[in-house]
Amino acid sequence: MKALYPGTFDPITLGHINILEKAANCFDEVILGIAHYTNKQNYFNLDERYALCQEACAHLSNVTVKKFSGMVVDFAKQEDCRIMIRGLRAVSDFEYELSLALTNKKLSQDIETIFLVPSLRYMYLSSSMIRQLAELGGDLHDFVPPGVAHALQLRMKKEG
Ligand code: COA
Repeated sequence: MKALYPGTFDPITLGHINILEKAANCFDEVILGIAHYTNKQNYFNLDERYALCQEACAHLSNVTVKKFSGMVVDFAKQEDCRIMIRGLRAVSDFEYELSLALTNKKLSQDIETIFLVPSLRYMYLSSSMIRQLAELGGDLHDFVPPGVAHALQLRMKKEG
């Protein structure tokens, strides 16, 4: 069975990869779908996020990285995925995730959302925390893959 793990991945973190590895163990094929349209102002553009995700997922042979624009349910249909994976880190995620899952269910009856829980060490991670840490010159290596740490450091230097 094929599953879609959609998100903004701005940038992808070890927490996302932890969820992705769990999904890759459960499903024959997993598509990591990078959303062009979200309600957020992006830090890395779509192509940058795509390149960073590709590098970070290279060790997972049944994972393919793709970009999508428009609604996630349409992308899932286009890719023939009936399962959508989302990570659930803490109670605070629940309300947003529930409304996203129910909206997607209303838009497409065929698609089921499955929540995976990250390992304890990644429970507290978020992309905005990583961006803040990078801005403050913190050590990123426990939180993001090496390619992402490098990209964040380059970006910080550029912004001076
Ligand atoms: N480890 C670390 N961080 C995690 C995580 C994990 N396992 N799971 C979630 N997060 C963090 C992300 O880093 C992000 O942090 P930030 O807000 O600090 O940047 C946050 O949780 C949520 O990000 P993400 O999981 O990427 O979801 P999202 O809310 O940004 O995007 C989409 C969700 C892409 C699925 C949604 O916006 C979408 O479907 N967009 C397309 C349009 C659409 O169809 N909308 C829905 C119906 S109208």
